[in-house]
Amino acid sequence: MSKIIAPSILSADFAHLGRDIEMINQSKADWFHVDVMDGVFVPNISFGFPVMKSLKQLAKKTLDVHLMIVQPERFIQDFADAGANVLTVHIEASTHLHRTLQQIKAAGMKAGVALNPHTSIHSLLDVIEDIDLVCLMSVNPGFGGQKFIPQTLKKTEALKNEITRLGCATLIEIDGGVSLQNAGDLFKAGADVLVAGNTVFSSENPSQTITDLLNCSK
Ligand code: DX5
Ligand code: ZN
Repeated sequence: MSKIIAPSILSADFAHLGRDIEMINQSKADWFHVDVMDGVFVPNISFGFPVMKSLKQLAKKTLDVHLMIVQPERFIQDFADAGANVLTVHIEASTHLHRTLQQIKAAGMKAGVALNPHTSIHSLLDVIEDIDLVCLMSVNPGFGGQKFIPQTLKKTEALKNEITRLGCATLIEIDGGVSLQNAGDLFKAGADVLVAGNTVFSSENPSQTITDLLNCSK
């Protein structure tokens, strides 16, 4: 499968959100990464359904929605209605993860599971065949622009080995602190999708930076 860059709109300019969405539409990115935070699971609040619905009207690519909220199962149908294509919940926030995954798929979305930096990949191997995407957090979730946690590289390799061993099609996404310096190593370690917020939106030419990130896979 070809590699994917998912710019995180958390780092976009919300006073010019339409302009930034159009930049992503025109770029080599395949996905929009959409960070939803509730101020409980993480120490920050981002945005909710009104912003998502506006985004959906303009975005011409996959909406990859990352829920950093407690009890994510409460809102599965609402996110489907708001236009999510991939819905990722945190394993640390999901008591009945298997049921939640089935509910996400029944609502017509791909099901993702995110792991905080301290959470072992072994905690999800029993349900890996039900997961379309594993999101490895390479920062503690809550904020854009943080420093990449280097142990994520080994974790990515270990997860890739397990996915290959089990013969499943689960994608690996890396979220947090992705840069032009670490993107090549992450792709080599087995990452399929790289989320990038600060690296894209703080650059002088965001569209070119997306191309440059993608080229790190070559
Ligand atoms: C962090 C979010 C990330 C964030 C990434 O809690 O889940 O998706 O937007 O931003 P950067 O790439 O700036 O670390
Ligand atoms: Zn995210």
